[in-house]
Amino acid sequence: MAIQWFPGHMHLTKKTISERIKEIDVVIELLDARLPGSSANPMLAELTGSKPALKVLNKQDLADPARTAVWLEHYNALPATRAIELDASETAPARRLIKACHELAPLRGGMTKPMRVLICGIPNVGKSTLINTLIGKRSAKTGDEAGVTKAEQRISLADDFYLYDTPGMLWPRIIVAKSGYNLAASGAIGRNAFEEEEVALELLDYLIKNYPEAITSRYKVELPPGITDEQLLEEIGRKRGAVLTKGRVNLQKAAEIVIYEFRAATLGRITLETPAEFAKGLAEGQVL
Ligand code: G4P
Repeated sequence: MAIQWFPGHMHLTKKTISERIKEIDVVIELLDARLPGSSANPMLAELTGSKPALKVLNKQDLADPARTAVWLEHYNALPATRAIELDASETAPARRLIKACHELAPLRGGMTKPMRVLICGIPNVGKSTLINTLIGKRSAKTGDEAGVTKAEQRISLADDFYLYDTPGMLWPRIIVAKSGYNLAASGAIGRNAFEEEEVALELLDYLIKNYPEAITSRYKVELPPGITDEQLLEEIGRKRGAVLTKGRVNLQKAAEIVIYEFRAATLGRITLETPAEFAKGLAEGQVL
């Protein structure tokens, strides 16, 4: 069963973005570097049209660096688009954000034409963390109220640079079955919307093919040719002592271990999709 996720309507978000977009120079979209394609909301592209776009691959500290480079190259090849990678440990990301926005909208800047940027991202992608980091830096420097006007959700990153937080909630919109599993594995969708066991099996299926060494070294298991994800999950459960009466494996517990260790990158730095794989998923019509 594919992940079913109906978090609610985005009418208000849609309306407020489309009203605000007129006065925006650059749209920053925060993506999860472990699943950039799946963590994008296609509605945003529809609403922002041809506005210059900055894709921020956040949580890059958890993602596979080689694949992050591939995704950056992919986005940087798109028209009016730039991409950078970030992570929460970075203490001064403002400089890089400002630079990338000026490259995208070179005619904006200065007191008469300040740069106006909209920042968007699905829940859990790290938007609050990034905004807090940006505010912390500003307030530490100026000692004022951080240049934040709550009512307008406007953050001043420089005298001529304003960042607007997205009005409303930009929920993920799952259009490909695999994206649903990737979003669930990453923690972007509610626990009640999926079965851990199903998500862990999908995750293991991908890891066997793409990151076998992450599994063998973490769980000290063999991966004989033809091993199924079900057999692997059972083996992991057994190794971790997730055993019920009469030696049966507690598959729920085993699934939780695998998902948790993926999220925490205890399994290593892993990216669940490449640009080519994501495009193939869309083209093959696994569309829900
Ligand atoms: P949101 O506003 O977009 O919903 O996301 P938020 O900033 O709340 O971040 C969601 C979770 O992701 C938080 O973890 C946060 O610490 C973590 N996070 C954000 N950016 C990064 C990053 O670049 N790298 C890593 N490794 N983690 C990041 P949490 O477990 O929900 O909370 P907490 O443990 O930080 O309290």
